[in-house]
Amino acid sequence: MLFKILVGFLCGTAVLATENNTTHAAPVPLLLVSLDGFRADYLQRFPMPNLQLLYRQGVLVEQLTNVFITKTFPNHYSLVTGLYAESHGILASNMYDPVSHKHFHVSNDTDPMWWSEAQPLWLTALDYGYKTATMMWPGSDVIIGNRTATHFSPYNSHVTFQQRLANVTNWILGNDKEQGAMFAALYWEEPDRSGHLYGPDNKEAMGEALKAVDENIGLLVSELKQTGLWGRINVLVTSDHGMAQCSAERLIRLDDCLHRDNYTLVDLTPVAALIPNHDPTAVFDLLNKCHAHMTAYLKKAIPERLHYQNNKRIQPIILLADEGWTIVQGKTDKLPRLGDHGYDNSLPSMHPFLAATGPSFRQGYQVSSLQSVDIYPLMCHLLSVQPRPNNGTLTRARCMLASESCWDVPLVVSLVVGVLLALTTITLLFRMLRSRQTSGPRPFQRLHIDDDDDDPLLE
Ligand SMILES: *[C@@H]1O[C@H](CO)[C@@H](O)[C@H](O)[C@H]1NC(C)=O
Ligand SMILES: *[C@@H]1O[C@H](CO)[C@@H](O)[C@H](O)[C@H]1NC(C)=O
Ligand SMILES: *[C@@H]1O[C@H](CO)[C@@H](O)[C@H](O)[C@H]1NC(C)=O
Ligand SMILES: *[C@@H]1O[C@H](CO)[C@@H](O)[C@H](O)[C@H]1NC(C)=O
Ligand SMILES: *[C@@H]1O[C@H](CO)[C@@H](O)[C@H](O)[C@H]1NC(C)=O
Ligand SMILES: *[C@@H]1O[C@H](CO)[C@@H](O)[C@H](O)[C@H]1NC(C)=O
Ligand SMILES: *[C@@H]1O[C@H](CO)[C@@H](O)[C@H](O)[C@H]1NC(C)=O
Ligand SMILES: [Zn+2]
Repeated sequence: MLFKILVGFLCGTAVLATENNTTHAAPVPLLLVSLDGFRADYLQRFPMPNLQLLYRQGVLVEQLTNVFITKTFPNHYSLVTGLYAESHGILASNMYDPVSHKHFHVSNDTDPMWWSEAQPLWLTALDYGYKTATMMWPGSDVIIGNRTATHFSPYNSHVTFQQRLANVTNWILGNDKEQGAMFAALYWEEPDRSGHLYGPDNKEAMGEALKAVDENIGLLVSELKQTGLWGRINVLVTSDHGMAQCSAERLIRLDDCLHRDNYTLVDLTPVAALIPNHDPTAVFDLLNKCHAHMTAYLKKAIPERLHYQNNKRIQPIILLADEGWTIVQGKTDKLPRLGDHGYDNSLPSMHPFLAATGPSFRQGYQVSSLQSVDIYPLMCHLLSVQPRPNNGTLTRARCMLASESCWDVPLVVSLVVGVLLALTTITLLFRMLRSRQTSGPRPFQRLHIDDDDDDPLLE
């Protein structure tokens, strides 16, 4: 009996755990929002009532492991392609391409050449007959493969969050002439700007910046409610990277180690990229012993876990500063920024978060971590778009979906153990009662005990 109940219990869970069919229903619009530089632990350190309200009705991923280098452009392109930087080609804020001899800087980024090693979701979704919209998302004003999103706006820091939001909701809603956008991406530059300016440890200044960010989330929710989109749209709120506290006490001066004639500098901090001018080995040796808080790598020796090697735009030598350290060239004491990012993507301070809400998501569900490259296959799944080859997987994100019944393994184990214990106790009690009944001076009663008694004398 015990065995039968146990088997029944396990089969029941197996049936419940099978995939539901609702994911194959017609997709609803998807809005991807990036709050630049939103370090994961800001959620614990500062009150964020509107954001909390949003993820309590949906899913919160406490930490996202983002891609190296933990800079704005590489990570924004990873979010919409699911690729590591080495595979999408946007490797840093400053790049040099040794084949075309071109230079890239984030303020001069519209040459398609830099972006064409990958195809962002706002283009792939066009092939499925969808309209798409991007609001100042890095790279979205670039004509990639002769195309842009159906609607886009070039970057302009003077346009408020509210103005950006109003246009995005209009694009999603559509009108008599044009069908609404099924995929929209919205970029906002805070709390990154304040994080650089004040440093993440400045509780007062960051508190104020994050209060404003949270109010923007409040605006987002009320705008979606007002336009009737709330409940009929999936919303992802995430970020590209975190922020580390820097200090004038933690400067690494390259001029202390070698002459500027020895190398050509492509990018400086916290990941420097440089090309040795004459003797690469001698230059590497000087850099290798330059500072205890800076690691020098020859391109071929860059650790595999960083996925930052297989691209011609990665220079022969890179230097990686330890968390909170800043690389400078000159003999200066001046710190360029109180907060910075770009460091090793295994550092929690570099990690952003993810909040997801809408009809496709579970409610009140929390996950401790996910890879940021997994967001792309998740979005493709939500839109029923075939994902292009990428470095993420839907497997890790599946449990966030309402259509999936995922069992918490420890919970299932404790349930099974609990049921087993209860059954064992019941069985023991039953046997005790029975042995009490069958023992003692009442021989005739045994004859009335029903058929499954296996006493051979009674047959
Ligand atoms: C599967 O979808 C149906 C229809 O929407 C729903 O009623 C049901 O609760 C879902 N089952 C599970 C296990 O999620
Ligand atoms: C799943 O969805 C498909 C397409 O909507 C439908 O044809 C099929 O009957 C559904 N299967 C179940 C088990 O509900
Ligand atoms: C921007 O980049 C283009 C192409 O790489 C270059 O020709 C141009 O001089 C750059 N403009 C500025 C202002 O740096
Ligand atoms: C882009 O358009 C130009 C001119 O119409 C055409 O020559 C070129 O082949 C197109 N490139 C791609 C990648 O489609
Ligand atoms: C928003 O839409 C209005 C009206 O179409 C347009 O004039 C304005 O330039 C748009 N702003 C942005 C930032 O896209
Ligand atoms: C570095 O540059 C200095 C000054 O130009 C030169 O004397 C020295 O040989 C160079 N060293 C290396 C390793 O390139
Ligand atoms: C990432 O994905 C691309 C495209 O499929 C692939 O070429 C590359 O090898 C992948 N990188 C890793 C480390 O698996
Ligand atoms: Zn950023």
